[in-house]
Amino acid sequence: MVEEFYARVRADPALGPIFNDAIDDWPEHLGKLTAFWSSVMLTSGRYKGQPVPAHLKHKARITPALFERWFALWVQTTNDRMTPEAAAALQAKARRIAESLQLAMFFQLEE
Ligand code: HEM
Repeated sequence: MVEEFYARVRADPALGPIFNDAIDDWPEHLGKLTAFWSSVMLTSGRYKGQPVPAHLKHKARITPALFERWFALWVQTTNDRMTPEAAAALQAKARRIAESLQLAMFFQLEE
């Protein structure tokens, strides 16, 4: 499912260039994201990383509209590949994580 999602992301005209420019080693990225989703859904503890700084590096290119696009592709891929129950759970988690990533990226209190 993770592989299929990133194949669709890479083929997307808006999202594809950002990922293709940022990621040299796709097997490594897919391994990291598989560990991430395993940790999120199964609390496996396999992912040890920091998603906020990883996305802040690309702040100049990432917009709220791209998050909408990301989420639309996530909904399509999970609906195509998973049972309805699993797809709904994956979508609910992704929505919450996308919201908190966007808060971290786009919302700052005035100093
Ligand atoms: C890593 C882009 C949304 C989870 C990355 C990287 C890019 C990227 C370019 C590689 C960072 C680097 O090492 O240079 C985007 C864009 C998004 C988006 C354009 C939406 C517009 C999300 C969402 C999630 C997510 C919603 C989770 C539900 C991750 C994780 C990593 C990652 C776990 C690996 C971070 C690490 O290095 O440990 N993303 N992302 N991303 N992304 Fe996203």
